Formats: sequence, structure tokens, C-alpha cells
Amino acid sequence: MSNLKFVFVFSLAFAFAVAQQDNQQHASHNNMNHENHRVNVAVYYESLCPDSRKFFTQQLYPSLQGNLSNFVNLTLVPYGKTKMEFKQNEYEFDCHHGAKECEGNKIQACALKLIDQGKKTEGLGFNRVAVGFINCLMDKTERKGDDTTFPTKDCAEINHVNNLNLIENCAGHTDGSNYLANLGTLTKAVADPLKNVPTIVFNQQFKEEDNKMAQTNFVKALCQYIHADKPSECNGASNIQISIGFLIVASIISKLF
Ligand SMILES: *[C@@H]1O[C@H](CO)[C@@H](O)[C@H](O)[C@H]1NC(C)=O
Ligand SMILES: *[C@@H]1O[C@H](CO)[C@@H](O)[C@H](O)[C@H]1NC(C)=O
Repeated sequence: MSNLKFVFVFSLAFAFAVAQQDNQQHASHNNMNHENHRVNVAVYYESLCPDSRKFFTQQLYPSLQGNLSNFVNLTLVPYGKTKMEFKQNEYEFDCHHGAKECEGNKIQACALKLIDQGKKTEGLGFNRVAVGFINCLMDKTERKGDDTTFPTKDCAEINHVNNLNLIENCAGHTDGSNYLANLGTLTKAVADPLKNVPTIVFNQQFKEEDNKMAQTNFVKALCQYIHADKPSECNGASNIQISIGFLIVASIISKLF
């Protein structure tokens, strides 16, 4: 029987190797324009939320550095579990992590509107400067309750944001409130109130399992939605899974004999 077992397992291994080869061949044309098959990714989060900061700095931002960035049409929505009310001609906000978080959310809302007038970077589905600036804020802000200050100056310098004055002025006035209120409307359309922060939605359809996967393996969650010419980053994520799956299947089969 052990010969038969060997042949069987060997055939499986061979089929697996061929499948992998096939995957890798798809990784070649990364320089073409992916505008028509970008995945819409929307991230609903909060400026001072520890899980949002972890997701931004450890999952989202690193994955936007390589070829995978060509496949993402990104919408950032820094509002989360904020509550808003329209009172005496202006919005009032009550943010999940206190008043300072409202300030941080407004700075980001204004940055998204005002950096390059909210336009996307040529050839990409997001603005590289705005995303870099926001990632820096998510990374470097030290939470100290009411004494929290946002390192806007450092982050603007590092990311070559040249209109920080406009952004800060916006965040301190009615424009900032109106932009944050718009983000509130976008958030309520997903869930009211939002259950998890951050919430990640692919192609406008909230799926619990995608959201959960994205928190710890954003690349894998995203790659599910890339159908043509997967970039090499996608192989990395799935190969490990396939290999583990293969080992489990192989060991179960070998026990049958
Ligand atoms: C990105 O694509 C280029 C060209 O196809 C390739 O040479 C490079 O290795 C890729 N980078 C990563 C990180 O996969
Ligand atoms: C990209 O996302 C924006 C929302 O941020 C949306 O208006 C636009 O239609 C999307 N583009 C594509 C090609 O889906």
C-alpha cells in the first residue's frame, strides 16, 4: 500500500506545484493601468482609536507601498462612532475617545479635502501625500487625554504637505465641521451606529468575514477581490495558506492508507 500512497501524495504535490506556477505567471504585468479593475476599499475609523491606528500603520499603509497600491481605490472615513447633532446652525460632535479625537478627525477630514484639492495621485486610486500624512498622524500622535497634540507640523514636513495652514484653519472652523459631518453621513450608511472600529468594506458591500480578515491580513482580504493579473504580494498571502492546507490534506490522506 505504501507505494500507492506515495504515488497519490506525489500527484497531489505535483498538481499543487503546477497551480502555484500558474499563479506566479499572472504576477508579471504590474505596470499596466489598473484603473478599471481597482478594488474599492473604504475604511471607517477614528483618529485616536488604538485598533484603527494599528490597522492603519501595520496593515493598510504598508500594503500601499508596493505594486498592490495600483489595485486600490481608497476612501478614508475618519468618523467611526462619533455622534453628531445639528444645533444653532452648526454641527456638534461627540467623539468616541473624547473632544481631542474630534479635533483629530477634523484635521484628517480637512487634509483629505485640501491636499492637492482632494485629487488622487496620477495613476493611483488615492492621494499618496494625504495617505502618508494621515498615516504619520495615526503613528506618531501620543494620547494624553485633553493634552493630546497632533504632530501636524512634523507629519506635514515628512510628507511634503505644503498647505498645512489651510488644513489647520479648516479643522478649527465651520468647513472642518461640515467635512466631518459628510463623513458621518457616509458612516451611517454602513451602520448606525457603527459596530466595529475600524470597519473595512470592499466594493461597497460590508461583509463580516472580510472585515475580520482585513484587521490582521489586509493583503489577503484585498487579494480576494483582484481577479486579473494578481500582483506578487497576493501570491505570498495565499501560498502559505495553500501550503498549510496541502500539508493537512496530505496528512489526512496518508492516514487513510
Ligand atoms: C512589482 O512589479 C515589478 C514589475 O512587474 C516587479 O519587478 C517587482 O518585483 C514587484 N514588486 C513587488 C514588491 O512585488
Ligand atoms: C473610487 O472611489 C470613489 C469614492 O471614493 C468613487 O466615487 C469612484 O467611483 C471609485 N472609482 C471606481 C473606478 O470605482
